[in-house]
Amino acid sequence: MSYFITNEQGKNEYGKIGKLRIQSTIHPAFSLILLGFCMIFLILSAWNFNNTINQAVNTHVLHLYSRQPLLHTVSDKFLSFGLDTSLLRDMKSLPIKDSKFINLARLLGPAYVRVGGTSADCLHFNQTKIVSEKVINPVDGQDISNFTINEIDFENLYNFATKSKLRMIFDLNVLIRNVNDSWNDVNAKNIISFAKNKGMTLDWQLGNEPNSFHHVFNRNVSATQLAHDYCHLRELLNEIGYNESLLVGPEVNHVEDTVHMGEQYAKTFLENDKNSVNYVTWHQYYLNGREAQLTDFINISIFNYLPKQIKSMQKAIISSGELIPMWLSETSTAYGGGAPKLSDRFVAGFLWLDKLGYSASTGVNVVTRQSLFGGNYAMIGSDLIPNPDWWVSIVYKKFVSEKVLKLSPISLEYLRLYAHCTPKKAWTGRVPAITIYGINLANFPVHVTIQGIPVFHKNAKVYLYALTSDKLQSRTIKINGELLKLESNGNLPPFRPIVLEPTEQISLPPYSMIFIIIHNAKVPACYT
Ligand SMILES: *[C@@H]1O[C@H](CO)[C@@H](O)[C@H](O)[C@H]1NC(C)=O
Ligand SMILES: *[C@@H]1O[C@H](CO)[C@@H](O)[C@H](O)[C@H]1NC(C)=O
Ligand SMILES: *[C@@H]1O[C@H](CO)[C@@H](O)[C@H](O)[C@H]1NC(C)=O
Ligand SMILES: *[C@@H]1O[C@H](CO)[C@@H](O)[C@H](O)[C@H]1NC(C)=O
Ligand SMILES: *[C@@H]1O[C@H](CO)[C@@H](O)[C@H](O)[C@H]1NC(C)=O
Ligand SMILES: *[C@@H]1O[C@H](CO)[C@@H](O)[C@H](O)[C@H]1NC(C)=O
Repeated sequence: MSYFITNEQGKNEYGKIGKLRIQSTIHPAFSLILLGFCMIFLILSAWNFNNTINQAVNTHVLHLYSRQPLLHTVSDKFLSFGLDTSLLRDMKSLPIKDSKFINLARLLGPAYVRVGGTSADCLHFNQTKIVSEKVINPVDGQDISNFTINEIDFENLYNFATKSKLRMIFDLNVLIRNVNDSWNDVNAKNIISFAKNKGMTLDWQLGNEPNSFHHVFNRNVSATQLAHDYCHLRELLNEIGYNESLLVGPEVNHVEDTVHMGEQYAKTFLENDKNSVNYVTWHQYYLNGREAQLTDFINISIFNYLPKQIKSMQKAIISSGELIPMWLSETSTAYGGGAPKLSDRFVAGFLWLDKLGYSASTGVNVVTRQSLFGGNYAMIGSDLIPNPDWWVSIVYKKFVSEKVLKLSPISLEYLRLYAHCTPKKAWTGRVPAITIYGINLANFPVHVTIQGIPVFHKNAKVYLYALTSDKLQSRTIKINGELLKLESNGNLPPFRPIVLEPTEQISLPPYSMIFIIIHNAKVPACYT
């Protein structure tokens, strides 16, 4: 089926035909013959011309079948983010009361803010500060000493989430254990009861990366034992009045990695957890923050890790006999706090946006970015100025809804595109739209046309937003050539589109992240 059914002909062709008709009024009979020849010549040359153009500048055709059902509907908080529990070791340095920080977090909503990480299994809730001796993991230098937070700390954290209109997920300490190796729930009960008494609404987790405890804490908790602990926590939550809160786990890492076998741990966990978890959660990183190089961030082989890991995790879930959707509950470009001058720069946006697109296309329900603040992978710098990935996330929230569409596969490795319905808020004049977004990793412009989408009106338009930067390692990012900056009152600036006719070829700049909004697109799954 031809696309943009009401706009089959290009403007230029109409123009040429019009001119020929005017000439034909002079010598009707001769002109007709001439017109015939001219038409043939025109058609042939246009055909040749187009073919040449196609080869010279590489126009690639994208197909989107308009009558398709939705491929998936992900969470309305699909793009979420974390605040690492290690930040709670020094609450005074965490800007959760700063109105600028709250504004930046709020602009990313709706989202979950997951308070978790390695330090979650060191956290004790107590009014009196325990002063423990510093314990540093000899392998990665991580602080694994126990520490305390008190009621005021917990309340401040919760108030930050409320003011930012975020839903908090709190990761409880699973390493407080009884002599028979079962989880000791006393400290957790204090937190949960405190939260309930204050009327807080939030969701929960228990422990962090339990399949790697041996390497981090020199302790082991088996998948079967952890499953029992999760059942116990589910009961406790129900008793205390959090029966409507989510419980997610088991927070495994090292998926698709022969040594640690995160997916095997998750499988055994699911076989024993008696449906205690609402979502199966795991952690994903592409690179080691200490070793990662600029070239890794634009290397297609690195991008291809994620599909393999997701498939491996899906297989584990299916083989456990459970059908529970998954969350990437902690994920970023590089582990170990991110790669300096890379994970918080423009170039990190490619792996980030591709992860969002690919994950949604496979039905991953939530992707939690590590991290909103802190480390080299922060979306917001320590100066409270947004990093490029904060902007990428903002643009994503604006133009990409939770309704996922299927786009036919593209044969080019450097072009990775995905399709969703456009959120209602971004429609123009209550007319539905679809969004095609993704990345052009080529160092040259790539030209595309889109086929298969009928439109409602002749005045259908395509809006293009291209995110680029002067340097791959820049801390700034541009939209259609304009530097992205908050307005002085903290509001988002207007995003100015490049407006195209639906038939026009769309040019995607080199090293760009692109959002193509097709206003007036007739894709029933997006509006019925
Ligand atoms: C707080 O810590 C003290 C000293 O370690 C302990 O005796 C007390 O039981 C703890 N309180 C709570 C609520 O965990
Ligand atoms: C931290 O607390 C846990 C649970 O109470 C305890 O088992 C562990 O030994 C403590 N770790 C250190 C290094 O003190
Ligand atoms: C393990 O010990 C705890 C606390 O002493 C107890 O409540 C629990 O029932 C025990 N679990 C098993 C399986 O024996
Ligand atoms: C934990 O398990 C690993 C692998 O099964 C084993 O090598 C290690 O000795 C165990 N560690 C402890 C503290 O039990
Ligand atoms: C949670 O408990 C309340 C009160 O018992 C009940 O009304 C509600 O239906 C329960 N919700 C779920 C999801 O079980
Ligand atoms: C891309 O990454 C793969 C896998 O790590 C590596 O083998 C290859 O050499 C890298 N290519 C470039 C151009 O860096």
